[in-house]
Order: sequence, then structure tokens, then C-alpha cells
Amino acid sequence: MQIAVIGTGYVGLVVGCALADFGNEVTCADLDAERIAGLRAGQIPFFEPGLGSLLHDNLRAGRLRFTADPAQAAAGAEVIFIAVGTPGRADGSADTSQVLAAAQSVAPVLSGPTVLAIKSTVPVGTTERVREAVAAITNQPFAVVANPEFLKEGNAVEDFLRPMRVIVGVGPGAGRGMDDERVRNLMRRVYAPMLRTSDRLLFMDARSAELTKYACNAYLATRVSFINDVAALCERMGADVEQVRRGMGMDVRIGPHFLFPGIGFGGSCLPKDLRALQVTARQFGLELPIVAAAAAVNARQPRSFLARILGHFGANGGPSALRGRRIAVWGLAFKPETDDLREAPSLSIIQGLLDHGAQVAASDPAALPAARRCLDTRVELHADAYEAAQRADALVLCTEWRQYRQPDFLRLRRIMAGHVLFDGRNQWDPAQVRELGFCYYGIGRP
Ligand SMILES: NC(=O)c1ccc[n+]([C@@H]2O[C@H](COP(=O)([O-])OP(=O)(O)OC[C@H]3O[C@@H](n4cnc5c(N)ncnc54)[C@H](O)[C@@H]3O)[C@@H](O)[C@H]2O)c1
Repeated sequence: MQIAVIGTGYVGLVVGCALADFGNEVTCADLDAERIAGLRAGQIPFFEPGLGSLLHDNLRAGRLRFTADPAQAAAGAEVIFIAVGTPGRADGSADTSQVLAAAQSVAPVLSGPTVLAIKSTVPVGTTERVREAVAAITNQPFAVVANPEFLKEGNAVEDFLRPMRVIVGVGPGAGRGMDDERVRNLMRRVYAPMLRTSDRLLFMDARSAELTKYACNAYLATRVSFINDVAALCERMGADVEQVRRGMGMDVRIGPHFLFPGIGFGGSCLPKDLRALQVTARQFGLELPIVAAAAAVNARQPRSFLARILGHFGANGGPSALRGRRIAVWGLAFKPETDDLREAPSLSIIQGLLDHGAQVAASDPAALPAARRCLDTRVELHADAYEAAQRADALVLCTEWRQYRQPDFLRLRRIMAGHVLFDGRNQWDPAQVRELGFCYYGIGRP
């Protein structure tokens, strides 16, 4: 099939490379000309496991092309995926202007029946608005469908190639000059190669598809905040949340996923989607108290962790509370296997440390380039995690990268000035590190 993908971010680039890998002719477009030049030369603009080889293989095979002109990408395409950003506005609502602009930029070149599939996470009603905007520009037959993406950064290629489900919101009356069944058949063809072992393609109306994406993210966020609330209770009661979550997770009605206590969730999706969902609900005259509570608990997590650090050093506030203290931070990305720093809890913890006068030395296996662009220049960045820990009074674990899970604690004891561990992801064994002479703080552990 001839396919266009508009937007080459974490979602668009994975979609483009993966669809090319199935033999499709794919052209990806992005307004960022520098990014396009890099992609043509085989450079991925961010860290995502497995994406590099997909890009190289398909560039070499000539099935994958890149352009800075969306209209050029769209010309002749049967399906055009829109995977541009939907950042939050100041009031929390999702800004869908990039989606609208992307659709308007491809509409003039439509020739013959074409489906525009919105991969971006968009509020209910956006697919209909995009359809109206496209209809105002072209006389060609077309349809607009909601096709939310559920991939996870860090495992994005695998998630896209082997999806738990694919949701396509078609209609009612998805387009003009194309009936809904024809649209569904075209989308079935796109996804057929990745759904051979089980048919997990779910068609629904566009509004339900748009809402499904927000409902999933809100539910996942709620689980994380729920276990963080339980962890706070464990701390008060002398219980161990690690035992509690295991006991909960073995119940098949609950399951073990997304029940990990820590310094909170971040990233480019959960926080912004929670805010956008609340704004949408309010527009329809409804408050969502559970979603609001999930967001509030999440905002509390980095704050209370910072308070614990201050408390340890006997410093309960003030700009010089940590003056003269050197704090090492392991992990900056909002989760392992990505370099994405958007709304990462590490950022607010580091800012808090700096605000209280600490000297901060940080390390991350993938996010250092991104950190150089956005972190306060006072933060020392080290490629080597142990170098960051050198002479530190305390070590703070913010992201549970694999390489941090079983560090050389004896070496840490030798090189650190103080022997305090703040484990923001409950990765380390409290008994083991205490035996080695560390003072250990986790989340919700006695
Ligand atoms: N990142 C994720 O893990 C993830 C997962 C599921 C869904 N989503 C959703 O998918 C969408 C994209 O997310 P992302 O993380 O890939 O975003 P991103 O910010 O990484 O990438 C968006 C890209 O779109 C480009 N762009 C913007 N306007 C354009 C236009 N008019 N024409 C061409 N290119 C344009 C930008 O230059 C940028 O490169 C968002 O709505 C997000 O909520 C993201």
C-alpha cells in the first residue's frame, strides 16, 4: 500500500518504519527540516530500542522516504496517518491545532479515495472537526477515522508490531464519497500483517475511539496513584507496600501491572491526557473526581520524596537547607528505555534540590543529550553513573533503568562521601544495603 505519515515523533516514526517493514511504500513528513535531513541520513532523533535497525533496513530497501513537505508525502497515498503533537494548553485542554494544520496541509493533494487516520491523542469530537475542515478543501472522496495509538515509549516498536488491540473509530458517516464499510476494509488491510495470530482489530464509532484512549490512560494513572496512596499508608502503619502490591497483583481481577509505587508517573502522555480529559468532561458538565485524585496524588509524590531528602539532612526548608551537600541522581528519563524527559518526576526533584542549595550530579543511560538542552546548567551531567556518585552525600534513584538495579554497592560505599540511598522506585533490597552500611529510604517500605 502507499502510506503517508505526518509527524515523525515517537509515534509517527515508529508507525512509518513499521509499516514500511511490512512491504508498504511509506513517506513520512515533518515540518522540522533538520529532523528530516537527519532521518534521510539514517539518524533517529531520539532513543527508542529497535527503531534504528527498522529505519536503516527500510531506507536501504527504498520503501521508506522522508520529506519536509506533508503534501508531497500525501500525494497518491491511500492512507494518511496523522501523528503530530497534541500538547496541553495552559488551561489543561489539548491543543489540536497541529492535527488540524496537518490535515489541511494534505487535503489539497487528495486524489481518489483516501483515509486520514488520526493517531494523535485527541479530545472527543476532533475527528468530526477534522472531517469538516478537509471537506471544505477537497472534492475528492475521503474519510477521517480516529485510530488512537497505544504504544509505550521504550517498547514502541514491539507494541506497534504486536498490538494488544487496534482501535479504529469509523463514523457514523466517516467521510464523503466513501462508505464506512469501505473505510473499515481499507484499515483492515493496513493492520492485517500485525493481526495474523489473533484478530484484535476493534471498530467503533469515532467518539468512542477517541474516549477509549483517554480512559485507558486515566485508568493506568489511577492504578499508579492508588498504589502510591497505599504506599503512603504503609509508611504510617509500618507495613511494606512491596508485599501488599504482590498480594494484590496475584488476584486475576487486579493483575500486577501498573501497580508500582514510586515518585510518580510522567512522560508526554499520562499527565497531559489526565488534564485534557478533565477539561473535556467539564465541557460536558461533569467532574471526574477519580481522575482529579490520580493527578493530585501524582503531584504529591515528588514533593514528599524531596521532603524526605530534606528531612534526612535535618533541613526542613529554606534556600540553603542543602548547601554544601552533593546529591547524585541516577535516571532522568520519565521511565527506562527512553530519553524522553517530558514531565519526568526527576526534573522537579532536581529543581527542588537546587532550590535548597544542593550541588547535583546526574547520570542517565540515554537522556543526557535531552538533559543538556533542558536542565539547569548547574546540574553536572555524567555519562558514567559512578562518576556522578563520586563524593556524593546521597544517591537518589529516579528511573529504574536495568543497569541501576544491581549496582556495585561496595564501590558506591567507597566513592560516596555519605552513605544514604533514596530509592524512588523501590529497586534495591533494604536489608542488603543496610547490611552494607547504607541508610536506605524507599517508598512505602518500613
Ligand atoms: N509518545 C508516546 O508514547 C505516545 C503514545 C501514544 C499516543 N501519543 C500521542 O501521539 C501524538 C504524537 O506524540 P509524539 O510523542 O510522537 O509527539 P512528538 O512531539 O514526539 O512528535 C510530533 C512531531 O510532529 C511534527 N509536526 C507538528 N506539526 C506538524 C505538521 N503540521 N506537519 C508535519 N509535522 C508536524 C513535529 O515537528 C514533531 O516532530 C500525541 O498526540 C501524543 O499524545 C504519544
